Amino acid sequence: MNPRLGLLKPYPFERLRTLLAGATPPAGLAPVNLHIGEPQHPTPDFLKAAVGANAGGLARYPLTKGLPELRQAVAQWLARRHGIPAPDAETQVLPVQGSREALFAIAQTLLDPGEHDALVVCPNPFYQIYEGAALLGGARPWFLNASAATGFVPAWDHVPEHAWRRTRLVFTCSPNNPNGRVMTMAEWKRLFELSDRHGFTIVSDECYSEIYFDESAPPLGALAAARHLGRDSYPRLVVMGSLSKRSNVPGLRSGFAAGDAAVLEKFLLYRTYHGSAMSNMVQLASVAAWNDEAHVAENRRLYREKFAAFFDLVNPVLPLARPEAAFYYWTAVPGDDEAFTRDLYAAANVTVLPGSYLSREAHGTNPGRGHVRIALVSTVEEAAEAGRRIAEFARSRSRAAVPLR
Ligand SMILES: Cc1ncc(COP(=O)(O)O)c(C=O)c1O
Repeated sequence: MNPRLGLLKPYPFERLRTLLAGATPPAGLAPVNLHIGEPQHPTPDFLKAAVGANAGGLARYPLTKGLPELRQAVAQWLARRHGIPAPDAETQVLPVQGSREALFAIAQTLLDPGEHDALVVCPNPFYQIYEGAALLGGARPWFLNASAATGFVPAWDHVPEHAWRRTRLVFTCSPNNPNGRVMTMAEWKRLFELSDRHGFTIVSDECYSEIYFDESAPPLGALAAARHLGRDSYPRLVVMGSLSKRSNVPGLRSGFAAGDAAVLEKFLLYRTYHGSAMSNMVQLASVAAWNDEAHVAENRRLYREKFAAFFDLVNPVLPLARPEAAFYYWTAVPGDDEAFTRDLYAAANVTVLPGSYLSREAHGTNPGRGHVRIALVSTVEEAAEAGRRIAEFARSRSRAAVPLR
């Protein structure tokens, strides 16, 4: 048995199940699930039709490298979305079966399992796959704590020189899950300088890039930052994108990796043996998805409406920070985040995720502690209903906390 499996931590949703196991919510209240980042907006009809129309593709084994038309569609989409020349569809784009497997697999490609003190720099709180990918690749995560006190700015300069020397991979998450922050050009510039100096590869997780609130200011992506800074061949940079959140198809399992051709060549080799080729049917449906923006704009309109309604209901009682992008409120709560989550569930049948389940104790603190992540993924009506229940719960909790005289 692979001994490294023993290093993996219980997944946050497993811990949540255990936390809520003993609580019984009021029978008359329908459950509202805001703990998991699974988009609940309907899958666009044209996309469902595209899956059906391409079912003939099931009769053929797909190639790991994917169909040229999908790689072209992604390259053209990247060019339109980021205002960059289209990446070379032959060498700079690969299909992946959702960004999750790709984030895991790229670590196995980049890390040398024989190196015993390699580090993978990850944000903290973070998407749990980064940690598992580092541990199974024989490395250890080095956590960069992100807190509201510092505006969630990644503190690259807090990583000591001896740690950078051992760093082989840096995961970035922009727009960030859970805090919604988008990395700036200055932050990319600094990270690219560090990559040049220390030789590590940057994997930029951009699966939330299309969920944002200001139509006039789409989030900056790593490829655009690199081009702007004259890094035209994207040295040691790979971006992961996904249709899951953009097009409300988390079950399609479709995304891409794009960037440095030399890294992607090795990634393709790894993937060929790992057996991660995307079904031809999914590839052809994905072409239709990448070629359409109308459904994505409509998706953002729904998120804007939901975020505004929820904010108006909850903010007067439980102060909320509006995120720049992604679909989470990352909120400080009074007291312990596990107790808040359990009591909210028991009182209101609303499920959120304790922040400490998304983060680790690092450098003397756990930056997720005292926070909850609220995923506004359901309908506008359900989000408003959840807002009313959370506000009422927070109100009664603060009344209970006022000492009687
Ligand atoms: C930060 C982040 N990255 C990647 C993923 C994986 O998404 P998918 O595999 O559906 O592309 C998720 C899913 O919730 C996520 O939150």
